[in-house]
Amino acid sequence: MSRRACSTIHDSAARGDTFDLSGEDLDSLAKRVAECRRCPLWEERTRTVFSNGSKRARLMFVGEAPGREEDLQGLPFVGRAGKLLTKILDSVGLARDEVYITNILKCRPPNNRDPNEEEVRACEPYLARQIELLKPVLICALGRVAAQNLLKTNASLSVLRGGIHYYNDTRVIVTYHPAALLRNPHLKRSAWEDIKLVRKIYDEEIAGEE
Ligand code: URA
Repeated sequence: MSRRACSTIHDSAARGDTFDLSGEDLDSLAKRVAECRRCPLWEERTRTVFSNGSKRARLMFVGEAPGREEDLQGLPFVGRAGKLLTKILDSVGLARDEVYITNILKCRPPNNRDPNEEEVRACEPYLARQIELLKPVLICALGRVAAQNLLKTNASLSVLRGGIHYYNDTRVIVTYHPAALLRNPHLKRSAWEDIKLVRKIYDEEIAGEE
């Protein structure tokens, strides 16, 4: 694709033009993501990172964006932070293959910098369609970037943690990003409270559906 055609796509994403994903299921959506050039991140990616876990899961975890290891493997949360996430899930009796894990961005930002507005806007319809298809009873936002972008707020993580929020009609709980827990182990106690709340609300929601 020429640079010119490419920048046209970037421009339309930046304008917030909608593009139609309503006919896609999770498999075809993953293929659309793999071909995506809606923002400049496609130029440096090794692989897109769509999701991990079960397509039938009703509990969804949303992180920020792929890191180096995720970019190489094409799977979310497979690096150090991912290993900690697996342990956190395990601590409340959840296996990775019974939840659904994805990110705000499906491509790695250079040097793991924070996603910018253009990238978030370009990628947003993919996550929106993932949520629409999966119909989770609960979403857990991992870290500030995931929480702020899902909830469309500038509120800090400390303000958002501990409460119940909503993405459309779906409940959202906010916790620390596992990478933050690796940097600041003293936060693990609070993260433990968060994940216990996730497990409780998830169990209640599932029981309420039966
Ligand atoms: N950090 C994230 O936010 N997502 C990943 O997939 C890996 C690290």
